Amino acid sequence: MGQIRHIIESQQFDSGFLSALFQHSQDLSRSGRGGPLGGTGTIMASLFYEPSTRTRFSFESAMYRLGGNVITTENAREFSSFAKGESLEDSIRILSGYADIIVMRHNEIGAAKRAASISSVPVLNAGDGAGQHPTQALLDLYTLHQKFHRLDNLRVAMVGDLRYGRTVRSLAYLLAKFKGVHLVFVAPEVCQMHDDILAYLDRQGVSYENNTNLDAVLPQVDCVYMTRIQKERFLDLNEYAEAAGKYRLSEENVHRMAPEAIIMHPLPRVEEIAPEVDSDPRAFYFHQAQNGLWVRMALILYALGKWD
Ligand code: CP
Repeated sequence: MGQIRHIIESQQFDSGFLSALFQHSQDLSRSGRGGPLGGTGTIMASLFYEPSTRTRFSFESAMYRLGGNVITTENAREFSSFAKGESLEDSIRILSGYADIIVMRHNEIGAAKRAASISSVPVLNAGDGAGQHPTQALLDLYTLHQKFHRLDNLRVAMVGDLRYGRTVRSLAYLLAKFKGVHLVFVAPEVCQMHDDILAYLDRQGVSYENNTNLDAVLPQVDCVYMTRIQKERFLDLNEYAEAAGKYRLSEENVHRMAPEAIIMHPLPRVEEIAPEVDSDPRAFYFHQAQNGLWVRMALILYALGKWD
């Protein structure tokens, strides 16, 4: 039996995988529906212990569009046997007997890896606490590639909650694979990027800097990757109050960006991007979210061994 194709963390992907993913995602964006799962009865279990709009609905839509089926719980913390004290390991052991692929979001760092170590079917990490969100980073990378037709020599500012933000962690790991990338971290004092990522960037020889002046950074980068300050992850709400609202894009400062630069955001946003920015041609975040559908269709097919 071949190795099971789990998707757990960004470090697992190489450039060959990324090129194939981009090609499959583009092909699927053109066809929109259909593919090798039609009539096969393939089942995806979607197990979300944390709230989600984009990740859960895009994975579920992706599976239906591919011709497969979905079993799901709206809120696994309340409506699965987690509420009765069942361990993650036991839930995964059971679900992997009912489904051909499991997409899971969990509140604990490392939960996806634990699930994969038990599961007899592929596990796709849809976010594990403040750990990683690899499928988000893959759709982010696809969006950057679609816009710039390259991933080398990009200057990317990551702004906001870099301490608890799993999307920026996963994206930093992926961008580190490309030549000449420069990362600018713009974060409140209490939301700085963790040392494990900085150490990884150092080992990979990736250029990066910390800069607290967003307005000064805006004209210097190809992409401003905004993130929400995640109130739900703060143990000390005084720290949250210190960080909230510190960095914001609005009509007043977005004009400082280069005409060909783009604004990305994994969403949801709260106050870090003013609604009037949405009509700016550099606002890419809704397009980015749409790309999640095509990329997740491609990832489901990859995990099921259906890439030719
Ligand atoms: N980007 C993202 O993970 O969004 P959701 O929390 O809505 O899934």
